[in-house]
This record gives sequence, structure tokens and C-alpha cells, in this order.
Amino acid sequence: MLAEGRAALEAVGVTKFYGRVKALDGVTLRVRAGEIYGLLGPNGAGKTTLLKLFVGLLRPSSGVVRVCGVDVVANRAEALRCVGYVPEDPVVFDNLTAREFLGFVASLRGLDRDAFEERLERYAYLFQLEDYLRRRMGALSRGTVQKVLVVAALIHEPSALVMDEPTSGMDPEAQHAFRKAVAELASRGAAVLVSSHQLHAVERFATRVGILNRGRLLAEGTLEEVRRAAEAGTDVTLEEVYLRLVRGE
Ligand SMILES: Nc1ncnc2c1ncn2[C@@H]1O[C@H](COP(=O)(O)OP(=O)(O)OP(=O)(O)O)[C@@H](O)[C@H]1O
Ligand SMILES: [Mg+2]
Repeated sequence: MLAEGRAALEAVGVTKFYGRVKALDGVTLRVRAGEIYGLLGPNGAGKTTLLKLFVGLLRPSSGVVRVCGVDVVANRAEALRCVGYVPEDPVVFDNLTAREFLGFVASLRGLDRDAFEERLERYAYLFQLEDYLRRRMGALSRGTVQKVLVVAALIHEPSALVMDEPTSGMDPEAQHAFRKAVAELASRGAAVLVSSHQLHAVERFATRVGILNRGRLLAEGTLEEVRRAAEAGTDVTLEEVYLRLVRGE
């Protein structure tokens, strides 16, 4: 794991066009080891685009994206070695069982058999997945698939985690397990970047938040700092801060 304080996830002056649509407009964002950064913003703000840049699924039109100090465009394979990713729209392998899918991901990540078995047992217990490991991915409920995808991102206990609405569809117990597992990895030095629309959960869980709107960061910082940016009092919720900032544009 990286030393505390260093930015494991770093986007500097990133702009991304899809044809003529400017999805990101000069975004600079850093997530250091041990931080849990909640990325918020309206539908279409550019959250998924930014997260995909971090895992090399897209290339920036301009600007630089680094993961664990490695340029994602210049050196994608090396950069990706230290990242776990939960996609927004997963391509899952419907005909694999959940266990086969997780084994496949673990082998791609270079996890050895014993470590895989130990972690699978631990995470399957945490997310109450034991009864589903032998079932085909295509036969699992939406929330159960989401749990498997989160376990797939966590299983090699990466230095950086990039997660796109990871708890969508998860039941409350699984969301609790998710926060616990991620906080534990962060306390051991992982840098966590998570997009979400669940402001109440983010408020309690994230160490910093960023509010993206139309491809630009409107505000970022601790809850205190974004409250100040919104000129809001100390009793104001993140939801109110968010609404003020997004509507104020
Ligand atoms: N493959 C694509 N081709 C063209 N435009 C795209 C593509 N993907 C995203 N966009 C556009 O880029 C902008 C940002 O989209 P993005 O998916 O990053 O938003 P988001 O913040 O993740 O939204 P949501 O909260 O709905 O998931 C939007 O205007 C969207 O229409
Ligand atoms: Mg999205």
C-alpha cells in the first residue's frame, strides 16, 4: 500500500469530449491514501466518464490521469494493477457461477489460490453470498449481482478503489457491509473514489466530497468545507448543500 498522504488517484486538468459533447471540462481531483472521496452530481454531470478515465476505459481529450503514480494512458496495464473497479453498467458473464466469476477476476489480478479462498470466504460471509456462489450470474437478482461485483473489486485488496454507484440495488444490510469493508480498506491505506446519489450515506461515510455539475467541480472538500462553499450553516445537511450548489449554477 502507498504511504498515507500521497494521491493514489489523480486527475489533472482533465477534459473529455464525446464528439462535440464536452462531458468533463478541466477537472482536477486527487484522492490520497486513506481517503474516501464521494463524487456527487446530477445525472449526466460526468461522474461515470471521470471514473472510466481512471481505469483506462476512456482516454482524456486533454489532461493527465494517474493511478498509484502511473499515467493511465501511457501505462495502462501497470496502472490497473493497483485498482479495483465497480462499473456502472457491468458486462457480467451470465453463464459463469458467481464463484467462477470471482475466481476469474482474482486470477486476472494475480491472487494466489489460498489468498483467493480465504478472501472469498470472508467477503461471501460479509455480504451473505454463501448460498449464491454456485449459482449462475445470469440467475442472480440485481442486488446480488451488485454484491458480487463489489466483492470482485475488493478481492485483491487494491491500493485504489474506483466505484460507480456501487450500492445501487443493495439491501440495507449489504450497504452496511459495504461501508464497513471499504472503511476497513481505507484505514489500511486504500484511496477510495465512489460516485453516489445516496447523499445521506455519503454524508456519514466519505471523508471528502466533490460535487460535479456539467463537467465541472462546483465544490469539494470536507462536509464543513462544502458547507462553507454553499454559505450554509453547520446544521445544514449535505443534501441541502448539494441542492443549493447545483441549483445555484
Ligand atoms: N458514450 C457516450 N457517447 C456520447 N456521449 C456520452 C457517452 N457517455 C456519456 N455521454 C455524455 O456525457 C455526459 C456525462 O455522462 P456521464 O455518464 O459521465 O454522467 P454521470 O454523471 O455518470 O450521470 P448518471 O448520474 O446518470 O450516472 C452526458 O452528457 C452524457 O450524455
Ligand atoms: Mg454515471
